[in-house]
Formats: sequence, structure tokens, C-alpha cells
Amino acid sequence: MPYSKKIPRGRRTNGMSCDTIGVFDSGVGGLSVFREIRAALPDVDLVYVADSGHAPYGDRPGGFITRRAETIVEFFVDAGAKAIVVACNTASAVAIEALRSRFPIDIVAIEPAVKPAVALTRTGVVGVLATRQTIASERLARLIRQHGQGVRILVQPCPGLAELVERGDLDSPAAQALVAGFVAPLVAQGADTIVLGCTHYPFLVEAIRRAAGTGVTVIDPAAAVARELRRRLDTAQRLARRNAPGTETFWTSGDPGRVQPVVAQLWGKHVPVHALPAAFSLAPSLVT
Ligand code: DGL
Repeated sequence: MPYSKKIPRGRRTNGMSCDTIGVFDSGVGGLSVFREIRAALPDVDLVYVADSGHAPYGDRPGGFITRRAETIVEFFVDAGAKAIVVACNTASAVAIEALRSRFPIDIVAIEPAVKPAVALTRTGVVGVLATRQTIASERLARLIRQHGQGVRILVQPCPGLAELVERGDLDSPAAQALVAGFVAPLVAQGADTIVLGCTHYPFLVEAIRRAAGTGVTVIDPAAAVARELRRRLDTAQRLARRNAPGTETFWTSGDPGRVQPVVAQLWGKHVPVHALPAAFSLAPSLVT
């Protein structure tokens, strides 16, 4: 059913301007995409929603993830956001069709970089690290059917990795051991290219590289997503250029007191993190 509320033009609510781009993830992982968007579009106002109250998405039912994604997009649309980036492979895999059919706004998704990995591999073996939901998705199966011909694609679910990043634990011995348990079997089977199929994993890239060893290429699609967003906005000539740096605003459905230090760690500076209004942060009642 199409989204029925009238989208306000030029209205300012929740600290957003009409040139705002909304970016969201199950938690803080999508900041790996957010930083690339900031680099690609230095003068737009960016708003980030970390759905930390409901993270991780990776083992949630698809209906739950779709409802949360719809609610967060409503938050952005109500405030007049110009475009939205789903900085979450799991939500993109599960909910992107529902979001695009319901909301008349540009919505950019992310997906595991299978195509570039297939072009790069020399051993003919590619590893994909992702959540269980992404790995079970028809979208990933389709990507592999389309681009994986003649190459062995090893898909590796990584329960627990997103939670490490949510806690800000990027390199402890326990984090390194968990990462190595997922990465080493891929390398042992000949993978020379590893795709980061979850936006949390770029924050673990040092541990991933260490576990993979030299000679393995690690691919993060975040910069490509930011370029795609810029291309769409440029094509539509929908960005009012200005000569001042854009702002960043951070919201969470979790406890801002717990999320703020991790946002500061990953974003590289202390910034306020606001509590999402209750209407946008409660768990969906209809869970399928
Ligand atoms: N960052 C997310 C992704 O890209 C989801 C991690 C999770 O919440 O399980 O898939």
C-alpha cells in the first residue's frame, strides 16, 4: 500500500532540513557507510538512525526487520528527507522491495560486492561474510546466480560479529578469535577475495586481514554506495549546492547513554546521540 501521509516540503522537524539524507542500520555498523557518504557529499545534512534497541537484525524474522525498516523510513519521510540509504545488508536483502513500493522517495540499498569480487579473484574462490538473514535471502542467491558463474562462492554466516562492533570491541583477543573462526576456513578452501557483506564488518577489518593473511583482498562496498547516492542526486539535480559543510545528527532506538560512546569511537569524535521518539522506537507488534 503506498505511503499515504503528505510529505512536507521544506519543513524542518527533528533537526532535519529538506536537503537531509537519512541513513540507517540495525545499529552502529552503518557508520561505515555514513563516513563514505560524508566524504562523497561534504555539504549535505546527514541524519543517522542506529536501531540499536532492536540490533542485531541478522537473526530476526524477516517481518520484524521489514516493520522496523518501514518505521525508520517513516521517521525520515515525516521530516522531509530527500533520500534514504539503507546502510544495512540484512535490511536491504529482506525489506528493500517493501520500502520502495511503499515510499515515494529515492531509497539506496547495499548488497554484498559479489560482482567485483568475482572480477578480482585469481583462485576462483570468493568468501562472503554476512548475517544469517542475508545469507538466507533470495537477493543474495540471485546475485550469486547472476555474477558467480565459474567461481566458487563460499558464504559464511557470522553470528556474534555485529554484536562485537555494537560493544565497541574491535580487536580484543576474544574478537580476534571469533573473526578467525569465520575467516580461516574460507582461506583454507582457497578464497583469495573476501566480501564484507555486513556494514558492521569494516570496523573489524584489521582482525579480518590478520586472520586472512597477506594475499587476500578484502572488499567493502561502502564507497560504491556513497557514489551511487551522489550519482542519483546529481542526475536528478536535486541537491542545492552550498559552500558550507553539512551537519550530522545521530538518533538511536537504544539507550543513548550506551550508544553514544561507541558512536564516538567509530565516528572519531564525540557527538550527541538522541533518543528516537517512542512512536519510532518500539518493537513491531506484528511479528511474522
Ligand atoms: N549491519 C547489518 C548488515 O549490514 C546488520 C547486522 C545485524 O544487525 O545483524 O547486515
